[in-house]
Amino acid sequence: MPFDITRVRAAYPALSEGFVHFDGAGGTQTAGSVADAVAGAMRAAAGNRSTAFTPGRRSLEQVAAARSAVADLVGGDPAGVVLGPSATALLYTLARTVGAGWHPGDEVVLSRLDHDANVRPWVQAAEAAGATVRWAEFDRATGELPTGQYADLVTDRTRLVAVTAGSNAIGTVPDVSAIAKTAHAVGALVVVDGVHAVPHAPTDLATLGADVLVTSAYKWSGPHLAAMVADPARWAELRPAKLIPSSDAVPERFEYGTPSFPLLAGVTAAVDHLAGLDPEATGDRRARLRAGLAAAQAHEEALLDRLLAGLAERPAITVYGSPARRWPTVSFRVAGMSPAQTQAALGEAGFCLTAGDYYAYEYFTAMGLRDTGGAVRASIYHYNTADEVDRLLAELDRLADRA
Ligand SMILES: Cc1ncc(COP(=O)(O)O)c(C=O)c1O
Repeated sequence: MPFDITRVRAAYPALSEGFVHFDGAGGTQTAGSVADAVAGAMRAAAGNRSTAFTPGRRSLEQVAAARSAVADLVGGDPAGVVLGPSATALLYTLARTVGAGWHPGDEVVLSRLDHDANVRPWVQAAEAAGATVRWAEFDRATGELPTGQYADLVTDRTRLVAVTAGSNAIGTVPDVSAIAKTAHAVGALVVVDGVHAVPHAPTDLATLGADVLVTSAYKWSGPHLAAMVADPARWAELRPAKLIPSSDAVPERFEYGTPSFPLLAGVTAAVDHLAGLDPEATGDRRARLRAGLAAAQAHEEALLDRLLAGLAERPAITVYGSPARRWPTVSFRVAGMSPAQTQAALGEAGFCLTAGDYYAYEYFTAMGLRDTGGAVRASIYHYNTADEVDRLLAELDRLADRA
């Protein structure tokens, strides 16, 4: 059935303020059911985790429910879902832990298409161990990440391959499963940054070939929390630095301090919200997530095509990259204006877009664009409309005329 955009938008109270949000890649609006779940948890009697009394049991249940929800979202095992404050914090924990086992001569393969969160923690861990970093380069014209180069980059010294499932700068969808096959042939660990990809399509850990997949809930209608997901047996092999009295069980041993129980209730509500995007979907939550996110993906792809076609018709606009497969994310510049000026002018007119390098540090450095302000990013989420795309294009025409 067609994607019922009116119904979908009604689920986001914040949209009633009237801003046009093309900034989902920087953080989406929160579904109303998420806000209700967080507020509900905060209004209810609460306690730290304990089996001894009801509020303490509630907290235990909130943690368990969030693990199950994230596991359904990405096709993981709830016992392998590590929860944390942000993807960056989780990747640092992982890099410090994994890197402690590296030695001089070991190699790690990183990509210049990744957000810095899946780059710098590995670079620093490699430096600390005396290991060597090898770089996968993207094609400067298309923005694609050629898979073939991994056959040369990956050697029998490779301990880790870190790669994104989607460029947060230009939307490229790398062939992660092919890269993972090359990495697994030499026994390397494959860490996939799913932060940009998971909001836009059904995700399956096994299909991707990810040993570890990271995702952030605030990119898919939820609160500012994140998760990294792996087979619990994989976590059992790793020993992060931890406090003496804290749990040494998997996955708790990777989680520092007392979690935000109300926000975890919000994570579960966000996954339930995504599972309801196709109201006719049936089956268990994972099946409904697949249907809901496939419907959202088709809607987003139609908007992306409309946006790209509109931008291509405008000589004043330069779009960066033209990958064959891309998430609905486009970086561009308007002639005669800096990205920050474009962002500010759009902001005045009620359009919310990101400008700068969005922490895609290696991409913008390699493109020679970082020192001159990066680019402006229009990122589409399932609550966007064709009318909003047309209004953005019309606003860009006004700006280009003034520039
Ligand atoms: C692709 C990608 N990876 C990682 C991150 C970092 O996520 P977090 O803010 O949860 O640390 C972002 C944030 O924008 C991102 O887009």
